[in-house]
Amino acid sequence: MRTLILGGDGYLGWPTAMRLAVRGDDVMVVDNYLHRTLARETGSEPLMPTPALLERTSLFRAVSGRDVAVEIGDCTDQSFVDRIVDQFQPDAIVHYAEQPSAPYSMMGHVEAKRTLENNLGTTFAVIWAVMRHAPDCHIVKLGTMGEYGTPNIDIEEGWIDIAHNGRHDRFLYPRQGGSLYHTTKILDTDLLWFYVRTHQLRVTDLMQGPVYGVSTAEADCDERLAPRFHYDDIFGTVLNRFLVQAVAGIPLTVYGSGGQTRGFLNIEDTLQCVELALRTPAPAGDMRIFNQFTERLSVREIARRIADVGNRMGLDVRLTTVANPRLEREEHYYNPRHQGLLNLGLQPRYLTDDVVADLLERVRRHCHAIDTRCVMPRVRWVRE
Ligand SMILES: NC(=O)c1ccc[n+]([C@@H]2O[C@H](COP(=O)([O-])OP(=O)(O)OC[C@H]3O[C@@H](n4cnc5c(N)ncnc54)[C@H](O)[C@@H]3O)[C@@H](O)[C@H]2O)c1
Repeated sequence: MRTLILGGDGYLGWPTAMRLAVRGDDVMVVDNYLHRTLARETGSEPLMPTPALLERTSLFRAVSGRDVAVEIGDCTDQSFVDRIVDQFQPDAIVHYAEQPSAPYSMMGHVEAKRTLENNLGTTFAVIWAVMRHAPDCHIVKLGTMGEYGTPNIDIEEGWIDIAHNGRHDRFLYPRQGGSLYHTTKILDTDLLWFYVRTHQLRVTDLMQGPVYGVSTAEADCDERLAPRFHYDDIFGTVLNRFLVQAVAGIPLTVYGSGGQTRGFLNIEDTLQCVELALRTPAPAGDMRIFNQFTERLSVREIARRIADVGNRMGLDVRLTTVANPRLEREEHYYNPRHQGLLNLGLQPRYLTDDVVADLLERVRRHCHAIDTRCVMPRVRWVRE
């Protein structure tokens, strides 16, 4: 397959590029280094240094003999995306190119506007480039489980059948994002669904939960090929932040009661899911939605798990409660379906003690680089 990966410098984009290249796909990655710029601006650098794309592609070529083509440019720029899609003629586009941080989107007006314009702008440019230059191309878009919020009913896989006043119909499942970032993902979904209806696009929208891990089959041979590891309050996930706090001897900062529950997955499972979606394209005129996670965990459970494993490894890990900087339910019902990708063949890997121990060990090797200023909450949803 000819696969175009937008956001190919990112945490998920780069490992996806390596995986597909090893499988024999013709792969091109596109990025404008937005994430690196925002990380620098907010003092949220990754724990391990991450070489720029051209250096990573040459390192990867040296170890695998495979090529990954690189284009640096802004995916909100329609003429740029048009040119890439027209010239490369992809069978599929994996669209990761968005501003992915909920706290960043809640910092202030500048950051909110940047998130809104960037995330909708990239999706809009992709849709139009596909309609004009590669109408049969399958768009695999990364959404988030956060689009659904935490409703007090079961969460279906994208769609819900509603009976009302004796009549029935099928709708996108009701969504309520907990941040502006999540709201941009909801708007993306609506935009895609509109153009699927009007222009018979092929779309798979993957409602992904928070991803953890840095170990993939391709990255493990050279740490410079590893996915980026952010641990700060803006770009890091809760799991990474706890791992770093555990190693740095800072009590793990559980926001509020810690009952916030989400669906998590290992980065290897993200790679499996994206590949499964690519190899079974959605039919033209279909908007296929999968809930992409493998296990439900609460913030409290993650903190306890990391503390248990860390203490067995000789660390001194404690938990503390801090005022929740977010507006979210801290104790809630959470029962999302996630059957579609299992039906396609997903073989889940879970957050075992061995996986936690391996991650703690990696962080320990880089503990000299930990910046303890960025592990406490710096962004509040509502300011006093
Ligand atoms: N990582 C997760 O846990 C997670 C969970 C759910 C959903 N997602 C979604 O998956 C996608 C990838 O996430 P990630 O963690 O790899 O994020 P990331 O920030 O590491 O990767 C996104 C990449 O896209 C690039 N990008 C952004 N805007 C761009 C633009 N206008 N032009 C060109 N490049 C641009 C960034 O520079 C970055 O390298 C995002 O859409 C994110 O919302 C991620």
